[in-house]
Amino acid sequence: MDVDDITTITVLGAGNMGHGIAEVAAIAGYDVRLRDVEDDLVRAGYENIEWSLNKLAEKDRLDADPETVLDRISLLVDLSAALEDTDVVIEAVPEVMDIKIDVYEEVAEHAPDRAIFATNTSSLSITDLSEVTDRPEQFCGMHFFNPPVRMQLVEVITGAHTSDDTIEAIEALAEAFGKTPVRVRKDSPGFIVNRVLTPLLNEACWAVHEGDADIATVDSTSKYDIGLPMGAFELADQVGNDVAHHVLEYVNSELGQAYEPCPLLTDKVEAEQFGEKTGEGWYDHDEGVAIPTD
Ligand code: 3HC
Repeated sequence: MDVDDITTITVLGAGNMGHGIAEVAAIAGYDVRLRDVEDDLVRAGYENIEWSLNKLAEKDRLDADPETVLDRISLLVDLSAALEDTDVVIEAVPEVMDIKIDVYEEVAEHAPDRAIFATNTSSLSITDLSEVTDRPEQFCGMHFFNPPVRMQLVEVITGAHTSDDTIEAIEALAEAFGKTPVRVRKDSPGFIVNRVLTPLLNEACWAVHEGDADIATVDSTSKYDIGLPMGAFELADQVGNDVAHHVLEYVNSELGQAYEPCPLLTDKVEAEQFGEKTGEGWYDHDEGVAIPTD
């Protein structure tokens, strides 16, 4: 498919990444269908987009009127309606292989033959996911970073069966979104960014777990010495501790012990303190203070 033939994009999953990707596509002028399994979830995604567009407009970072962008987004729960006559499906459902497999089996049944499937998975195998569909050659990874509307990079990942046409169309689509695609030639666990980034977040947890530093000190050094735009714990709260933990567990199972999640991170996930999306993570996001770890 040529990028100029793409007009309609279906985004599956209205969570942190899904709503952000839908927003990016709508800003770029595409007709977007945002779909999740419940009305409330789609509505929450839409409200997040609305908030973000208004914030971008307030800071003079948006060329269009927020209402014009919002008008390009349809909200759907019915999967077959979301897929009708679509050109590209970008999937951002939870990082659970069984959920993704169920979704792709249904998507393959309803999507037009020409549609490309692009998964926003953080680390799972593109090849394994492509093999549950009817079109592994029209399947690749399209990995955005949080928050998608502010982050420039998109990893475009080739699976074992991905055709050159597919990868070129998705790279061109990333560019049409105003992003910079980086091609990841090997479908390896964590791809590039998460393979490098999640050990950093994990190591921050180990430093606190072993009593070497507190959260505020690690975050200060991350920002003022290492030069990260956010502290390691601030970033973990933004990415989601559940997501970071999942990536570490998966990469650990594939590449070994260097990625073993720190028990402090596991505790956070078990306490469902996922970060900004649950209001609490390493920080209490209402009060803006670090939550004591002992
Ligand atoms: N939409 C619109 N505005 C947003 C926003 C969004 N989604 N998210 C934050 N903002 C707003 C803030 O509310 C703030 O507004 P305020 O000043 O009125 O409070 C404003 O943006 C801050 O913007 P600035 O440019 O002034 O601030 P920064 O220079 O700090 O930039 C940032 C913000 C771009 C988010 C920067 O902090 C950053 O680059 N952080 C690192 C993010 C990162 O590394 N993400 C990747 C994580 S890994 C990942 O996602 C992969 C996954 O698979 C795990």
